[in-house]
Amino acid sequence: MKKQVIYSFGTILYALLALSWTSSSGNNQKSHLISARDSSSSKKTSAGKPISPDLFGIFFEDLSYAADGGLYAELIQNRSFEYSPADSKDWNPLTAWEYITKGYGYGTISVETTTPVSINNPHYVVLNVEEEGTEGVGLSNSGFDGIVLKAGEKYDFSVFLKQLSDKSIPVLVKLEGKKGTVYGEATFATQTKDWKKYTTTITATQSDDSARLVIVAKAKGKLALDMVSLFPQKTFRNRTNGLRPDIAQAIADLKPKFMRFPGGCLVHGDGLGNMYRWKNTIGPVEQRIGQRNIWNYHQSVGLGYYEYFQFCEDIGAKPVPVVAAAVSCQNSGGTWRIGGTGQRGLPMGEMKGYIQDVLDLIEYANGPVSSTWGAKRAEAGHPKPFNLEYLGIGNEDKITSEFRERFKMIYDAVRAKYPKITLVGTVGPGPAGDDYEQGWKLADQLAIPVVDEHYYEKPEWFLHNTKRYDTYVRSKSKVYIGEYASKGNKLFNALAEAVYMTALERNGDVVKMASYAPLIARQNYTSWNPNLIYFSNTAVAPTVNYYVQQLFSTNQGDQYYADIVSFSEGKGIRDSTLAASFVKDSKTGDLILKLVNAGTSTTQAKVNLDGFGPINPKASRTILTGAPGAENTFANPGNVIPETSAFMAGKSFLYEIPPYSLTVIRIKKGDVLGVSH
Ligand code: AHR
Repeated sequence: MKKQVIYSFGTILYALLALSWTSSSGNNQKSHLISARDSSSSKKTSAGKPISPDLFGIFFEDLSYAADGGLYAELIQNRSFEYSPADSKDWNPLTAWEYITKGYGYGTISVETTTPVSINNPHYVVLNVEEEGTEGVGLSNSGFDGIVLKAGEKYDFSVFLKQLSDKSIPVLVKLEGKKGTVYGEATFATQTKDWKKYTTTITATQSDDSARLVIVAKAKGKLALDMVSLFPQKTFRNRTNGLRPDIAQAIADLKPKFMRFPGGCLVHGDGLGNMYRWKNTIGPVEQRIGQRNIWNYHQSVGLGYYEYFQFCEDIGAKPVPVVAAAVSCQNSGGTWRIGGTGQRGLPMGEMKGYIQDVLDLIEYANGPVSSTWGAKRAEAGHPKPFNLEYLGIGNEDKITSEFRERFKMIYDAVRAKYPKITLVGTVGPGPAGDDYEQGWKLADQLAIPVVDEHYYEKPEWFLHNTKRYDTYVRSKSKVYIGEYASKGNKLFNALAEAVYMTALERNGDVVKMASYAPLIARQNYTSWNPNLIYFSNTAVAPTVNYYVQQLFSTNQGDQYYADIVSFSEGKGIRDSTLAASFVKDSKTGDLILKLVNAGTSTTQAKVNLDGFGPINPKASRTILTGAPGAENTFANPGNVIPETSAFMAGKSFLYEIPPYSLTVIRIKKGDVLGVSH
């Protein structure tokens, strides 16, 4: 009975709306309905077409200081004195450090390598204090352009010391401002002639954005120092060796379904010796092996594989690690993308060991604590498996015979031992071209479950290529768009990406995953632009593109429905600037409509929800809109952000899509006079 009432109410509403549709669009120009570009064969409101549950995720690469000086919360730069000209031509082991002899103290400082804490970190500092003066002799570290302190917060300091003279040496550590104001300090004395880790916690009495850490010996004598560390206790989820909470939260707020890491070009590296080796990045930080970052700085790997897995778990994202396909980056050697040594394959004699490393990675993630590598995970604090499902092999490599041979060796070995892991291959750096063709050929031959496509193109490319996946053969490899961006952070760029993302939802049966790239970048240290999130020491500035990603990932459904939306063709509207997607989230029962208008004129969309049963009219509408050239900046981070308000939905309704906008209408499952859809 109730149902009948509702249907008739819906019918009346539909009739009224249809009337207003006709009158509003029938004045100057002929009403012309064009179906939202929906070449999918799904029938209107029949069972929807399944969308990959892992469609929208993120890609993290230590690029533009994304890790050290970024997400990784360590406040000391060059904490283990490993910087060198190989990282960056003006660097040396004392970069970011200053030798301090205030108050008439004097002595000598040297960087040595004979008896390090760990041979993996060979450099350490030796201080020979000949006269301690009134203030001691030692070092200060300026962090990454200053250390940010917050009044009342606690900071965990640690250092490895080795007393090299006979008597115990008192050591003072302080946090101070540029003018010498002390915000907190602690003292201790050396206890042994062996390396020993000393720890203390300092509470900052004042806030300061450009503080420094000072560590001085307060008596004559000789001592060695290494691995000087200062961490805020407030890290994301309070993890030790953890992550900067504001950046981590901005990433978490994207609600990514997966996270690909640790790169990009970083993975296959600048020459064979620079390939990313996951085993170098786990265990106690003083034993990890840092190395030159392909993006011309240093990677401490303090943010290593354990931390990546932990972060994925903390934000509910499936981990998607990528290992090199045993070949180095084709752009290796010399300036980025300009010649150099090019791609090199690991010598065949090293392949067995390399493949074992890849298998061990899976054991590290998923193996029982009784296994060798599962035990190491447990030792690090995570006895439960990390539930690894995906593994990427290769990153937009040149598809050469060296690549093919090595890829196949790794691929076969993983499949044989871990048939349940979904392997992701690679099909070159662009949306077309030789590597794309050859990569797909290999994917077809090996029936690789998923291949990774990359494209950085102009917004127009995204607007004009929305049909790209409509014709992909469904029985072939699925696609992971591991890196894409429309070369800009203006609203128009973000909307072009939004238009494209509606096509990814429509093709959510063949496009398994997609991640914008790169994810985060430190202000003034960008090796690549644009990025999704910019940060400084004190602020996080999500771009407009970020909000598009967020609106899609937080409104991803699992069923796609075609033919729900029709557009009226308004003046100045180009077909490619309009897009719509209609999905259902079976978990919540919510119906979600996305409407994108990247064009100059208001356009009407006609939404027809026949076949969905009664509709809960109390919907919400979130809109992201502004001038096409509008951007979010550090000065104005809220320039273009989504705004949500109540929206009355019906079985059929018209919606005026403003120019330059993305609208998400979420129709909650719920009672409509007692009946739910
Ligand atoms: O995302 C930046 C870089 O772009 C990645 O490292 C690489 O895979 C691509 O060329």
